[in-house]
Amino acid sequence: MTDTHAYHIDGPVPETPENDPHSNDWRETRVVGTRQPKVDGYERVSGTAIYPQDVSLPEMLHGAILRCPYAHARVLSIDTTEAEEMPGVQIVITGKTPGTDIPWYERGGQFYGHLFDDHCRHEGEEIAAVAAETPLQAVDAIRAIKVEYEILPFVVDDDKALLPDAPAVQEGGNMAGDPQIRERGDIAAGFAEADVVVENTYRTACQIQAPLEPHGSVAKWDGNRLTVWDSTQGVFGVQETMAKVFSLPISNVRVIGHYMGGGFGAKLETGKYTVMAAIMSRMTARPVKLFLPREDCFTVTGNRPGNTMTIKIGAKSDGTLTAIEYLSLGTSGAYRYGAGTGALPTYLYKVANVHAVDTTVYTNAGKARPMRAPGVPQGAWSLEQAMDELARKLDMDPLELRLKNLASGLQTDPVMPYTSNQLRACLENGAEAFGWKAARQRTPDKGHLKRGVGLAAGMWFYSGGPPSTVVVKLFSDGSANINMGASDIGTGTKTWAAMIVAEELGVPLEKIQIEHADTATTQYATASGGSKTVPSDSPAVRAAAMDVKRQLLEFAAEQLETTPADLDFSDLMITSTSDPSKTLGLGELERLERRGLLMGTGYRDPNPDGTFTSPFAAQFCEVEVNTRTGEIRILRFLGAHDSGRVLNRLTFDNQVFGGIAMGIGLGVTEERILDGKQTGKMVNPNFHDYKIPTILDVADDHACLPIDVPDYEFNNTGTKGLGEPATIPTAAAVGNAVANALGGNPPNAPLTPEKILDLVHSLGKGA
Ligand code: MOS
Repeated sequence: MTDTHAYHIDGPVPETPENDPHSNDWRETRVVGTRQPKVDGYERVSGTAIYPQDVSLPEMLHGAILRCPYAHARVLSIDTTEAEEMPGVQIVITGKTPGTDIPWYERGGQFYGHLFDDHCRHEGEEIAAVAAETPLQAVDAIRAIKVEYEILPFVVDDDKALLPDAPAVQEGGNMAGDPQIRERGDIAAGFAEADVVVENTYRTACQIQAPLEPHGSVAKWDGNRLTVWDSTQGVFGVQETMAKVFSLPISNVRVIGHYMGGGFGAKLETGKYTVMAAIMSRMTARPVKLFLPREDCFTVTGNRPGNTMTIKIGAKSDGTLTAIEYLSLGTSGAYRYGAGTGALPTYLYKVANVHAVDTTVYTNAGKARPMRAPGVPQGAWSLEQAMDELARKLDMDPLELRLKNLASGLQTDPVMPYTSNQLRACLENGAEAFGWKAARQRTPDKGHLKRGVGLAAGMWFYSGGPPSTVVVKLFSDGSANINMGASDIGTGTKTWAAMIVAEELGVPLEKIQIEHADTATTQYATASGGSKTVPSDSPAVRAAAMDVKRQLLEFAAEQLETTPADLDFSDLMITSTSDPSKTLGLGELERLERRGLLMGTGYRDPNPDGTFTSPFAAQFCEVEVNTRTGEIRILRFLGAHDSGRVLNRLTFDNQVFGGIAMGIGLGVTEERILDGKQTGKMVNPNFHDYKIPTILDVADDHACLPIDVPDYEFNNTGTKGLGEPATIPTAAAVGNAVANALGGNPPNAPLTPEKILDLVHSLGKGA
């Protein structure tokens, strides 16, 4: 912990919220910015960490849900008699059970249906639930429930949903809300100014979140108090929903989520399974555990919608963009959710004339949910590949084309200045580190193995803010507790929190314990999503540590008969700078001894007005395309990221490599396949047929280049988000590398061998 890490900070560092003269300005740091293994890494890899799925309580029952096997059906009758008599069965519930008539809402508040609905709009809708003594007894019992269905015609293809004879998924027709339009300037005038125009249609496939730990909960009642262990990204959101559903004071519901095995947005909302577990727990007066089987996590717990995106870009012969016209179609599945992709094409580059329309339609498919940068990797797949097509037409380096069109702020009216923007550095420094120029100038390969390099840029549109409250407690032996509500969804939240306290107070990391993600015992935080956990909660952690330090120096000044400003606090010793003989260890501080501990509270301050905060990214990729088999090998990947200050370089790299792996899934391997002809069902709801990238599918050589410039205008740790930006440009960078190898961009993801061979043949590049 003695290495220091120097930051590029231009000009004065804005004052920290408490305006504390003793706050080190973090121009140089000893802990922050270094590589630290996760503080709970041992627990995670040794199996001693208790994930919600590991929770096992005395007298606990096991739940299972009967789901509709059809893409579209109406329930005519349900007979649970036989199931109720099965061995071990304690309770069977359906929509007819008193207390189950619960209205269901989207995260945004939109009415969605009921806990159980007779109208099943997609495969996997809930019909009944059972709790039994063992998991297999529960599964046997749901199989014994007899359901009579009226099977209805279905539509699962986005492009067929609006045809006049398409079955109505929702009563009002298949438009999922009005199209979302983003526009500025005059699109016709923009294209009239253009010397060159490119136009193409790109497609992405539906991608499934596929968390390693399935969705699920354990519910337990004590009188009128409910405790839930949930695999969730945010305990306070689940607490609020459960309180509403059961008409309880919020304080009567305790939600605990200490660990969770993968959450990419789908675990931001409360699951129906959580409510069902709680209903069955109350009816049986026993705890109920209800975790979904793997198949259900493919069909019902959300996905990144596939999109069809037509983009037309106009530019002057020097590369200046003049107009972008953009049309995107996607499906939210059977319920409301915006499947739009137009944000990136509208805002990434400086262009005066834009018209972007996002249309979302209903289909008889599992509902979409937020998934790691909702809509934006798809927008990058179309925009960033079209930019390369444009560069080819202009005979310009794709890097130069992007550098020529950088925006100075978010192009709303008026333009919102960014609190920080290092996209140029991402592109230039990334290209330098990757060896872009030399790689692009390489002579073309002659054989059937063709190499190519590509890049893509991206930005993300959310950066968090208040509320977040954190408490730090310092003990007289120099150890500390951090108490914060945020969930650590595997990204290293607890680790950077400890690093910040170590930085401010000099407490070694191994003497810091963290209480988090428990609504009964921790401070309030919003859900961990939107790449906002670091920029929302780290400022509160820092403010809490500074609050401890402020009190410590006040008390020491009193005892040493000097002023706080005269005191230096380092390595857990307090020393007077004017008289170094006046010195105190923590154990000698009388006020600390009287209290037992010092407690500091920190709050996340509001964001600045009139500005916009975005993380930025550029990724670079080298591929080898086999023109005989259509296989792609990804040889190298480099992610250059502006996410403000780096708190932990190790988990920063982890996020970038993980985001790249997930983006390779979108671009190359993953695809939800629905049987559009006969059944409307998903045909690959398992890890064998749904291809998550393996270690053989990702790059041999991964590199991460943080553009480590703190954004002090945004918050007191200078941080912005990273998790989502890390997957935004990835698929498009692969597409552009393939285009560099073959001479034309691949329009449709995922780039299976079949699609690559189609491209090879259409370009006349067969070997
Ligand atoms: Mo993310 S889609 O906000 O977990």
